[in-house]
Amino acid sequence: MDLKIGVIKGDGIGPEIVAEAMKVLNKVGDTYGHTIEYTQLLMGGASIDVNGTPLTDETVALARASGAVLMGSIGGDAKTSPWYKLEPSKRPEAGLLKIRKELGLFANLRPAVLYDELRGACPLKEEITEGGFDMMIMRELTGGLYFGERRTVEENGVMTAYDSLTYNENEIRRIAKRGFDIAMKRRKKVTSVDKANVLDSSRLWRKVVEEVAAGYPEVALEHMLVDNCAMQLVKDPKQFDVILTENMFGDILSDEASMVTGSIGMLASASLNETKFGLYEPSGGSAPDIAGKGIANPIATILSAAMMLRFSFDLDREAQAIEAAVERALAEGYRTIDIMSEGKKQVGTEEMGDLIARYIG
Ligand code: IPM
Ligand code: MG
Repeated sequence: MDLKIGVIKGDGIGPEIVAEAMKVLNKVGDTYGHTIEYTQLLMGGASIDVNGTPLTDETVALARASGAVLMGSIGGDAKTSPWYKLEPSKRPEAGLLKIRKELGLFANLRPAVLYDELRGACPLKEEITEGGFDMMIMRELTGGLYFGERRTVEENGVMTAYDSLTYNENEIRRIAKRGFDIAMKRRKKVTSVDKANVLDSSRLWRKVVEEVAAGYPEVALEHMLVDNCAMQLVKDPKQFDVILTENMFGDILSDEASMVTGSIGMLASASLNETKFGLYEPSGGSAPDIAGKGIANPIATILSAAMMLRFSFDLDREAQAIEAAVERALAEGYRTIDIMSEGKKQVGTEEMGDLIARYIG
């Protein structure tokens, strides 16, 4: 098969972790007879430096022409980087929000799995993690508070800021359907997370999710308030299969879920639209504090590449080969510093990529 992949290395640790994912993809290509054509795309700070803007229309068009996009991370240190002297709509993060919107990437899948091997890195007590956990956070990605109207104005001498949270029933319905479809392939449970005791948008969310649920009689649906969900994630993460939620709640809960798996450096993600196209990125940020040191964990990016093969190219066997190679590297005791524990072998970014590539096929 011929794979056309757009690559956004981005900022901070982005270029380092993407290089390792490409190494692994190339090995998959060699092993299973696929040719891979990469197109480098600029976004975030890297694009600001060259084009003066975090995302150009040309980059969007190139991304659209690819089968999928693999991304590292974008953004820098908000205190020291000149990017943050720009107005908010010109900063690195605006590029990410824009590409999600332009490509209609409304469904964000963030799997959080506790690997047996990484139990030591999990901050929760053993009695809580006994038996492991495996959940999928389905985050709505192109609506809600992050895309609502916003402004900061002075009213009667008082600075006042407005952000608006809007959802229409169609936006809710399409993400809910995706959530139930995924649940059908998993343990058939959906926890829909909202704040229906306060917000109108959440009450509509709940109503539409219930309508969608009627079409999936095999799936058990429960509703959970977001504050309670934040608590349940550390109290009893095993109870979750698919967590279905709106944009901001999903942003927050997915960082929390990643930490209970041991490290945000392990969490892959896929952002999908109505077609096979997707943007695949680690859930973690650009970590400017460790950029260039060769110590970042490339596993989340490598696992994102596996999700890309599965969802955008229907290459299930190849995706599984990557996942098995990651598990083998962990089973053999190799760890980057973020997941290091006593008695294990500490390796850098490149060495971890080499090991995983070696274990393919
Ligand atoms: C994420 C990030 C982004 C988001 C930021 C960088 C805009 O935190 O992908 O979770 O909030 O969506
Ligand atoms: Mg986030």
